[in-house]
Amino acid sequence: MDKRINAIIKKFSDNELALNKIVVSAYIRANGLESNCGFISSFVIDTEDSLYEDVEVLSKDCQLEDVINIFELAIPNFEKTTNGAVYTPKFIREYIVSKALESTQKPLGKCLCADISCGCGAFLYTLSEQIHSRTNIPYKNILHNIYGIDISETSIGRAKILLALVALQNGEIVESEDFNLFCGDTLAYDFSSWPVIGLNQGMDIIVGNPPYVRSKNISLETKQYLSSWNTSKVGNADLYIPFFEIGMSILNETGVLGYITVNTFFKSVNARALRSYLSENQWTLKIVDFGEQLVFKKKLAYTCLAFLSKANSSFIQYSKAAIDDVKHCQNFPFWHISYSDLDNKRGWNLNDTKILKNIQLIENVGEPLGNKYVIKNGIATLANDVFIFRPIKSDAEYFYIVRNGIEYSIERKICRDIIKPNIIKTEADIPQKEEKIIFPYDKGNNVVSEKIFMEQFPCAYHYLCSCRDILDARD
Ligand SMILES: C[S@@+](CC[C@H](N)C(=O)[O-])C[C@H]1O[C@@H](n2cnc3c(N)ncnc32)[C@H](O)[C@@H]1O
Repeated sequence: MDKRINAIIKKFSDNELALNKIVVSAYIRANGLESNCGFISSFVIDTEDSLYEDVEVLSKDCQLEDVINIFELAIPNFEKTTNGAVYTPKFIREYIVSKALESTQKPLGKCLCADISCGCGAFLYTLSEQIHSRTNIPYKNILHNIYGIDISETSIGRAKILLALVALQNGEIVESEDFNLFCGDTLAYDFSSWPVIGLNQGMDIIVGNPPYVRSKNISLETKQYLSSWNTSKVGNADLYIPFFEIGMSILNETGVLGYITVNTFFKSVNARALRSYLSENQWTLKIVDFGEQLVFKKKLAYTCLAFLSKANSSFIQYSKAAIDDVKHCQNFPFWHISYSDLDNKRGWNLNDTKILKNIQLIENVGEPLGNKYVIKNGIATLANDVFIFRPIKSDAEYFYIVRNGIEYSIERKICRDIIKPNIIKTEADIPQKEEKIIFPYDKGNNVVSEKIFMEQFPCAYHYLCSCRDILDARD
């Protein structure tokens, strides 16, 4: 299936409507459905159409999960980077949605649900399927209670198609006005345009996979909106961070929010405000941490599931789960970790409570190393290849390096020893792995001015000037 899909996606990469028509027609044909009216009918092509040969290719075994897959694969690469568009695997959606539905106190037929970064509607599809199978309520009625926003117009169009196909599979015809799916920037969205929110005092269920976009890839326009949210107004917040706050701002008092997101917010500096926001509100927070297991096939991201509700709790419920346990809906233990034991500034240490107790014991013995020495972790030169080097020789005053066939000398006094901790396995590795770094800071850790640098370290200055193209291309 993959090769055929890829070929068709490539062929219609700049013809959104043609691809939508092929996918809809293939699905209808593969499942023996008929549709000559309603929203979906405008996407159905007949056997005379020139696109029909692709419909035939695709229709061999086309299921709804394939429709989602094709739509997500068809998102252009640049949009994947700037919008963080990633398709969430079915078992994750099913787990999040089932836990959210199980914890709501309202009859499911009355629950208002949303995904505020819904992409092509994968979560909304899972929501509508699970509500239908638990209540037998017609899809058309379920859709009236399901809301979605996405910044991509294309994705919103495809989310409508997906939900229309789910209904059609059940013999139901839906019209454009049955959808509550909107294109917009969630960070600046006017939720008062959804009157149901006021009538219901908020949404009952919010699920999704907020866009994971690093600060440096966020568009200028969206960056401006980040400052309207407490969790993202300071520092270089990644895009997923305010999606917690926005979700909670439209969730009602008994509602449940369930996200899959990166687990870096436990510790990262740019999520400090998010940690404070969560712990100051003392909301019920349940985390299923996947640690270093990779959930997304093509994305190197460490993730967790986070469930939030507004009922007060003095502790977080935290679990480390194997992906297979989530896949098979196994039960796993949750440890209770008090918000008051967590350090929002330095990062949350989440773990088995026995391990946390032992760490606490160790940390309270003797004088902390950090009181005796300045310890800093992490180097962000954005050009390690220029700043970090292994000298070919040295003398009392200089290190010597060769770059692009030219030998340069660099004053020893502007350099420090450096070792990348991730490549050391034992202490014995240290002498072999040690490198030098050009470290243009004075004793007070202030950057050395260009004038002083030029005067005191002319050789290093000359070397850096020779790398100017690379250095100027940094953020
Ligand atoms: C990780 S994808 C999730 C897609 C879908 N919910 C799923 O799980 O398969 C994130 C989505 O967020 C959307 N997005 C990115 N920035 C956004 C913004 N500022 N407002 C609304 N949606 C945004 C992207 O277009 C993308 O569809």
